[in-house]
Amino acid sequence: MSKRRTWGDRPDISFANTFAFDIDGVLIRGPHALPPAHRALQMLQGNNPFKKKIPFILLTNGGGVSESARAKGLSDKLGIQITPNQCVQAHTILQQQVSRYANEHVLVLGGRRDEIRQVAKLYGFNKAHTMLDVLAWNPAVWPFYELTPAERESTRPVDFSKTSVSAIFVFHDPRNWALDIQIICDVIQSNGIIGGPYGGPTKLVELVFCNPDLIWRCDFPRPRLGQGAFKEAFQAALTGKMYPHVQYGKPTETTYQFAKSVLENQIQLLYDNPESDIAGANGAGWPSVLVRTGVYDPVHGPPAHKPSHEAQDVEEAVLWAISKELER
Ligand code: G3P
Ligand code: MG
Repeated sequence: MSKRRTWGDRPDISFANTFAFDIDGVLIRGPHALPPAHRALQMLQGNNPFKKKIPFILLTNGGGVSESARAKGLSDKLGIQITPNQCVQAHTILQQQVSRYANEHVLVLGGRRDEIRQVAKLYGFNKAHTMLDVLAWNPAVWPFYELTPAERESTRPVDFSKTSVSAIFVFHDPRNWALDIQIICDVIQSNGIIGGPYGGPTKLVELVFCNPDLIWRCDFPRPRLGQGAFKEAFQAALTGKMYPHVQYGKPTETTYQFAKSVLENQIQLLYDNPESDIAGANGAGWPSVLVRTGVYDPVHGPPAHKPSHEAQDVEEAVLWAISKELER
């Protein structure tokens, strides 16, 4: 049980600020909310000496569900009402791509069964296919994996030998790296036709990744491999050739610009990963607070990217950020 902190002897704290929070390692760890998270967000929802609401968004490299589902799940876990437009997930930015690909055949990756197809359809990708659709169409694509009954039920196979794939979107962490890497290689080496002849770049299939994190933190005692590691494994499978691709997610500038468009006011960032969160904040010129409940562990030395401040957890961070900004 963590110790409850109070505003204590800070009578001069006044209101003004806006916050962007990382989720994994800051508010949530694995399936559970971190205890200080509820109190930190309560402060922003008006439980502060000024009885004012302070705007905030959640800016995460995670995803896999719709923004509505994410908002509901977080609201339940954190005991704080979060709205869908406060949730900027790694793939939320793909909503901007829909006009180009609404009626093109695209492959979408991440999550279980066809969860990501559902998110993609919600965004407006009308012809989104999963890697499991491809395996259901032709099991020889990857003979080392057999679909479970639930996975088979989720598939909508088409004849991929006659379907030209225009783009591949890695929304969220892929679940079957070997199958997924094989099919990405097939698509890009055969100009969009799975199983077609290898050819020169007559058609460049667009490849988009939404999260560059090599590692992330859940409730396992050591960091876990993330989508960035999947990308490295894919590039290695292409025998070292770097396939041109688009990268979104923290710390990319595009994602910070997108987040800024969601939240226009001055921003204090509360994050746990110096490699993505703090690097991105520094790049965008935003002040940041690095907490010690996630990827960053001070026993391994100082952070690779220096934040504006370090705090034990998100509650301490919010107290510091508001005090610092407003005591001036
Ligand atoms: O990289 C995995 C992802 O879950 C990290 O999420 O909230 O720490 O950006 P977050
Ligand atoms: Mg994190």
